[in-house]
Amino acid sequence: MTNEDKAGLQLDSKKAAARVGLTSDEIIINGGSPLKGRIKVRGAKNLATKAMVASLLGNSESVLTNVPNISDVRVVAGLLALHGVLVTRGESGEWRLDPTNVEVAHKADIDAHAGSSRIPILFCGPLLHRLGEAFIPDLGGCRIGDRPIDFHLDALRAFGAVIEKQPMGISLEAPNGLKGANIELPYPSVGATEQVLLTAVLAEGTTELRNAAIEPEIVDLICILQKMGAIISIEPNRVIFIEGVEKLRGYRHDAIFDRNEVASWAAAALATKGDVYIEGAKQEEMMTFLNVFRKVGGDFDVEHDGIRFYHPGGDLKPVVIETDVHPGFMTDWQQPLVVALTQAIGTSTIHETVYENRFGFTDALNKMGADITVYKEGLGDPSRRVNRREFEQAAVITGPTPLTGADIEVPDLRGGFSHLIAALTATGQTKVTNLGIISRGYENFIEKLRLLGADFIYEG
Ligand code: EPZ
Repeated sequence: MTNEDKAGLQLDSKKAAARVGLTSDEIIINGGSPLKGRIKVRGAKNLATKAMVASLLGNSESVLTNVPNISDVRVVAGLLALHGVLVTRGESGEWRLDPTNVEVAHKADIDAHAGSSRIPILFCGPLLHRLGEAFIPDLGGCRIGDRPIDFHLDALRAFGAVIEKQPMGISLEAPNGLKGANIELPYPSVGATEQVLLTAVLAEGTTELRNAAIEPEIVDLICILQKMGAIISIEPNRVIFIEGVEKLRGYRHDAIFDRNEVASWAAAALATKGDVYIEGAKQEEMMTFLNVFRKVGGDFDVEHDGIRFYHPGGDLKPVVIETDVHPGFMTDWQQPLVVALTQAIGTSTIHETVYENRFGFTDALNKMGADITVYKEGLGDPSRRVNRREFEQAAVITGPTPLTGADIEVPDLRGGFSHLIAALTATGQTKVTNLGIISRGYENFIEKLRLLGADFIYEG
């Protein structure tokens, strides 16, 4: 497709959108045609935002490349600038972050700017090291559970932080500095592991972290911290040792690719019987997803610069999936995959063990003709699960059920992408509203839909 063709399509889409009075937060998708083509996926939302916070720990400028153009990144950049970091956005995904003049920011400004992000909680350790104090606003993030931060606060107190609840958030001080600690997490929490890493690297003495998260994004953050001068070792059985050092310097790092975005577009290719090449995808970090993708009836070819995901023909098959921490099937992968499972011949079960309310998106799918039942209690053998919370969730999907277009609203980030896939899979027209949430984590997704030949009207 030439640039002229693309421009022409864009103009037609704008005109059509104006005719039907679409806002920029809405899209009308004419479903039923396969996604075919090539897209590029850049850095992981769930690494890049943390890497930007890590720059606060350095005594010189850091440069992060392969950063996706998403609103979660822009929110963190704004919060860093509020705290005196010199933030410069370069060409094609490069951000330069100079923390030489870090300063206290006004609580009201922080609260106003933090928006729906959960990343501010990770500013605690770096700001305590740099300024001896921090204010963290009440957190946002997708409503997929109550999302407490008790593991974070317990870890910070173990380092010697003093925490006080404020009307709009929490304030922290470290009257005697931050000292290394022995911490065992009740659950391999990604955020709490990052909290410990970002605090321990400059703490006095050694920190031993047990039951740590070991997702690829965590390992990539450890690589960044090691580049800055930190001494961190990943031991067997989820143990991480961190030897506190006196100072850290800036880093230069290319962010690891976004596994969640790759899984989302791959699931879209499967559900629409398409064929999508995803540049930037790598096999090693996606192995569990690739196994499930093949069991459902998809196929893939691993190339040197990406992976081709396609529907090879034939029927889709049902599966039983239990979400888990890495290297298990990620909780962020189940929502996009559910749409393909509505087209499989038979009954699939997804047991969600990480969050207690992550099937809200299935209401819209049922409205479009799917047959999905959500159970509050868990299914399967409870001994296999990390016993953490009485609320487990399971969804039973019976297919195949043809989907027909409807008006649906995006509930959260990954559920929202699942709604796009459902609209692309359904026959007829679907109007999807509240699109803004999707741009928190999916870079240029409208352009990518256009590149893959989707038929839609959008005013943007
Ligand atoms: C990160 O969230 C990701 N977000 C999530 O992706 C991802 O689903 C999750 O890790 C699991 O992989 C970011 O990195 C910004 P957790 P996080 O701490 O760190 C409970 C997406 O769509 N918990 O591993 O918040 C918690 O309620 C998002 O990109 C506590 O009980 O996840 C949850 O049930 C969604 N107390 C479980 O642990 C705590 O102090 C796992 O949470 C912290 C967590």
